[in-house]
Amino acid sequence: MKKDYSFSVDVYDTADELSGDDAALLLKAQEATGNAYAPYSEFRVGAVARMSTGELISGTNQENASYPIGICAERVLLSAASSVYPAIPIDTIAISYNNLHGESDHPIAPCGICRQSLHEYEKRMNHPIRLILGGKKGKVYIVDQASRLLPMAFTKSELL
Ligand code: THU
Repeated sequence: MKKDYSFSVDVYDTADELSGDDAALLLKAQEATGNAYAPYSEFRVGAVARMSTGELISGTNQENASYPIGICAERVLLSAASSVYPAIPIDTIAISYNNLHGESDHPIAPCGICRQSLHEYEKRMNHPIRLILGGKKGKVYIVDQASRLLPMAFTKSELL
């Protein structure tokens, strides 16, 4: 017997095809890349969440001369959201980037550690987090639920 895991992503040729709210959130994520502290990688990432109440909150990657200390934009964002709005679910997160060594012309997806953090946030709030992924130009992906990016996740139910 085999057990299959799969999910679908909505693909848009450009950000112009998005709804007004989604396009605006992705633009905010692109603008937030200007606040990244990424002098080592020169890969600036911005993530902006729209809370279920409509408030916006952002995060950017924060690096350190001791490289492993660096934190991704997504986890900076989740920590900020959890600190400022601890009881409010996140509806949607837009993630964008500015690679100073490249074109930033395609979507990037959260790294493995961030997928684990996003998964926990969804389960904790019992509320799906939509992800809008896009660069400065080019295709945009929308994932309807962040936890889809982490099949077979390790969760708190193992710790009971
Ligand atoms: N980074 C993020 O902030 N989010 C991602 O989804 C991928 C990678 C950061 C970590 C590091 O500061 C830089 O991008 C290069 O890996």
